[in-house]
Amino acid sequence: MKAIEIKPDIYWVGAIDWAIRDFHGYLTPNGSSYNNYLILDEQITLLDTVKYNFADVTIDNIKSIADPSKIKNIIINHIENDHVTSLDKIFSLTPNATIYITERGKKGLVRFFDISKWDIRTVKTGDTLNIGKRNLLFIETPMLHWPDSMMTYIKEDRILISQDAFGQHMASSARFDDEFINCSSISELEDAVKDYYANILMPFGALIKNKIEELQKLGLQIDIIAPDHGIIWRKDPMKIINLYLDMANGKSDMRVVIIYDTMWQSTEQMTLPIAQGIRDEGVDVKIIKLRATPLSIAVKEFWKARGCLVGSPTLNNSMFPTIAEFLSYLKGLRPKNRIVGAFGSYGWGGGAVKDIYEEFKKMGLEIIEPGIQVVYKPSPEDIDRCYEFGKDFAKKVKAYHTQF
Ligand code: FEO
Repeated sequence: MKAIEIKPDIYWVGAIDWAIRDFHGYLTPNGSSYNNYLILDEQITLLDTVKYNFADVTIDNIKSIADPSKIKNIIINHIENDHVTSLDKIFSLTPNATIYITERGKKGLVRFFDISKWDIRTVKTGDTLNIGKRNLLFIETPMLHWPDSMMTYIKEDRILISQDAFGQHMASSARFDDEFINCSSISELEDAVKDYYANILMPFGALIKNKIEELQKLGLQIDIIAPDHGIIWRKDPMKIINLYLDMANGKSDMRVVIIYDTMWQSTEQMTLPIAQGIRDEGVDVKIIKLRATPLSIAVKEFWKARGCLVGSPTLNNSMFPTIAEFLSYLKGLRPKNRIVGAFGSYGWGGGAVKDIYEEFKKMGLEIIEPGIQVVYKPSPEDIDRCYEFGKDFAKKVKAYHTQF
């Protein structure tokens, strides 16, 4: 895609990655984009770069607007590979440029490149850079989501360059929220936001709330939020801020997601009567078979629902490997404000349900015990027990949901 002006003399010069489907293990069925921005001012300033295999794309976009050798400043808000691995190629075209980056960013950058001859200045929250008619304000956002992360606020244009925060993994010809919503839907955009938040930002809810409060205390007027992935928020930037606050505050849908795997369909046969019991209590329910579903989608659905039931057959006295993988991924994301339970089947010794509860306890979630188990194959009585288990779990989900 060609460069696009987002405000007078401020351009998106990034790249759309239509083909990516595996973003460091996170499934990206809708692709992604690497957004970076160029400001034409007395000092031409580039904000962020792109993934290494899109270096030529952003360089062409930059060249369509300005001579790269005239770039005076390069702001690096985040040093993860998808944003800096083209920096050396771009920097070779900008001999007069100074790089502005956080102290932790500089420490990381040295692991990527030989920076001994680069002019690098470190910045911290509150530091500003005058580039002519405009002033840039730097705001560190450590652990959102890397130690080096920061945002850059363009004061005169009221634009917040937010790096990963408020982004989405979505390739689109639309660059702005209003363009996307007009052609697609707000629900599709919100789903992409939740997917990204669940898989990348879930551990950082408290930090997100604090950082948004800090931005509000600084009194920043924001017309545009321009993240480094996906759609730029210009129609209603408060919408994405409020959506983030809702997620950080534990809001979710009043739904139960049943996430399971199965060997000889016994655990699978338990899911339908459980789901029926949940449904009959007036709670929405969704069933996900893990072996048929990428982890990142299962985690998104976990995040969107208030309650989760995990079902597993017993294999070698423990849970099924896909369930163990899912719980390991989930534990790393430090989920909060969700109510959970477990069910499963076994032939002789059992062990899966016990192991699932042990993992839940390590996560500190609201736990409903005991779970429900069947031996070998669900009998008609077991099916009735599953139905009642679903009903009872749904009642507890409804009660728990009132706290949020
Ligand atoms: Fe888009 Fe944390 O990199």
